[in-house]
Amino acid sequence: MALITKKIKGTEDVLPKQSYRWQFVENIMREEARSYGFKEIRTPVFEHTELFARGVGQTTDVVQKEMYTFDTKGGESVTLRPEGTAGAARAVLEHALENEGLPIKASYFVSCYRYEKPQAGRLREFHQFGIEEYGTQSPAADAEIICLAQSVLDRLGLSQVHLEINSIGCPACRAKYNQALREYFGQYKDKLCNTCQTRLEKNPMRLLDCKSPEDHKLAEGAPKITDYLCEECENHFAEVRKYLDAAGVEYIVNPSIVRGLDYYTKTVFEFITDSIGAQGTVCGGGRYDGLIEELGGKHMPSLGFAMGLERVLMVMDAQGIEIPDTDKTALYIATMGDAAKVKAFTLLRNVRQCGLIAETDVVGRGLRAQMKYADKIGAQYSMVLGDNEIETNTAKVKNMETGAQTELALDESFADKFAVLQLADDQSFEI
Ligand code: HAM
Repeated sequence: MALITKKIKGTEDVLPKQSYRWQFVENIMREEARSYGFKEIRTPVFEHTELFARGVGQTTDVVQKEMYTFDTKGGESVTLRPEGTAGAARAVLEHALENEGLPIKASYFVSCYRYEKPQAGRLREFHQFGIEEYGTQSPAADAEIICLAQSVLDRLGLSQVHLEINSIGCPACRAKYNQALREYFGQYKDKLCNTCQTRLEKNPMRLLDCKSPEDHKLAEGAPKITDYLCEECENHFAEVRKYLDAAGVEYIVNPSIVRGLDYYTKTVFEFITDSIGAQGTVCGGGRYDGLIEELGGKHMPSLGFAMGLERVLMVMDAQGIEIPDTDKTALYIATMGDAAKVKAFTLLRNVRQCGLIAETDVVGRGLRAQMKYADKIGAQYSMVLGDNEIETNTAKVKNMETGAQTELALDESFADKFAVLQLADDQSFEI
């Protein structure tokens, strides 16, 4: 097959007949975020490379191995966003959003780009729904965003997804912990992968989420951050758990959750499922109290999470969760003759104004071919409009599934009457 008709490895198309599934999921996410007071932010797909290097962290897999980075014709190094947090933080700083009051609450849908080895649930272009909150150090905020993620997953009907939480401390407790990690991994230095050998000095916590199987095994015996938390971080973590308990959100404390990005401090969490194989993390997030400062702003404790849309959809598929197809054509008007074509335009406009999907022939096909097409697109009702119907000013709409026919007048009442009929017959409509 010619190169131009093949998509790039690790990317996926969403085709017209599947997009209702994405929109269903996105609508629930959007509504939930809105109900917690988060407003949408949209930032560019590419940013200065430096933003991710500084924000996400030089020693992360994302920055070291996975970024799509290129020089522009003007000689600038730019990078396709590997995640949404750094870009949103940059925008908050650039537009001084703190002047509008704290906390700042933003949500987003972004496409992300990581040069990872593609496999089920791991793509090179993927999509995230995320939220970020800036300007609060309260543990109530941590618990609240976790509740938000949980409500999204609940509303989508996902089961067998569990929440794991941890605290990875602040720079003060991290310093002692890093030392303990250096001592532990130092014993096995020769066994570590090349990347981790260099990370050992600079950022030993990164060894804990290395993808190499040998390093992964060694990481199991490593000291746990929870034994090194300072009093403030320990109290903060206890408070987060207290709020989660009060909200009835179930969780497991897993001291091995460290997350793969450098900006995290204190609370980190992941929602994980066994339903879709090895790439089972559907949502990840946490607190990042130092990021805004790292990017040149004032101290502004912040937090957030992102959910992978492809993974959420995979889980829904695997668990047989049905998504209602709201893109079904309600009425297809097949026409014979010019007068019918013109009449159809008026009727269709009125039906569409009722919020229903309505179509007619714009190819110039004969009646049989038009009906075949109506069948193919799964139209719920069809109607034939010819000279006869124009003359009597009535036509029969036919329920394509049951074959039942209803005669309707082709006047101003047509659209309303059709809408009532459609609503009453619609099998997904339950009182
Ligand atoms: P992350 O854990 O790198 O965190 O990604 C968040 C979610 O995106 C993952 O849990 C997963 O569902 C999805 N995801 C990640 N990589 C891939 C991939 N290659 N293919 C498919 N899905 C993927 C972040 O990106 C942080 N920015 C989250 C955050 C926001 N933390 C604070 N605020």
